[in-house]
Amino acid sequence: MQVYKAKDYRDMSRKAANLISAQVILKPDCVLGLATGSTPIGTYQQMIEWYQKGDIDFSRVKTVNLDEYKGISNENPQSYHYFMKTQFFQHINIREDQSYLPEGMAEEEKAECERYDNVISRLGGIDLQLLGLGHNGHIGFNEPGDAFQLGTHCVALSDSTIKANSRLFAKGEKVPEQAYTVGMKTIMQAGKILCIVSGSDKAEIVKKAFFGPVTPAVPASILQLHPDFILIGDEEALSMCQ
Ligand code: F6R
Repeated sequence: MQVYKAKDYRDMSRKAANLISAQVILKPDCVLGLATGSTPIGTYQQMIEWYQKGDIDFSRVKTVNLDEYKGISNENPQSYHYFMKTQFFQHINIREDQSYLPEGMAEEEKAECERYDNVISRLGGIDLQLLGLGHNGHIGFNEPGDAFQLGTHCVALSDSTIKANSRLFAKGEKVPEQAYTVGMKTIMQAGKILCIVSGSDKAEIVKKAFFGPVTPAVPASILQLHPDFILIGDEEALSMCQ
């Protein structure tokens, strides 16, 4: 595991964008595993800026996202489809048919999980996986206690995750309680993993996940065992680690 300390959120985002851009330059048809949430927004903005300057070309890049809420349509502004489109894809020259996410409105749960696993294997696996970190140590929506050996599956979100997500929903709007997520097995098979963390509210879980024992109780802790795992945290997020 390599740990890079960034000054602040902006610096973390630039460092992450640099590593992802390097991947795209080295392998223009690479497969990027992407995440939603507040943490990667700055990273996407930085890459959009470099794309607009002509420094990165996404025309041959393929992307697979980690997760999507179950029961939400792709057009719903709360969906991860919508997030990725508005925060990243519509600002760069990525091909629409080369960006994949689980389908929240899929009719059959098991078939959707199989379909998504097949998409990832057909692409040849993930070259670089970008991750955020949940306050309870989840990555994707692999919640504490989930088995490490799973591929794509449908999960019941934990109360703390539902609460954290509710900040993004309007008052009275139903916050989804289930989601599709790629499993830890798929994440661990990525060639390189980059986890980004920012803010003092993540300090405790960063210490537990990356400087404590490897346990399904803290899903992100397994990343310690990946041969090419990079953690980029800002000073606040890394404040409890030496
Ligand atoms: C999102 C995802 C989640 C988030 C995590 C942190 O696709 O997979 O695991 O990365 O919940 O979210 P933020 O960045 O909002 O703190």
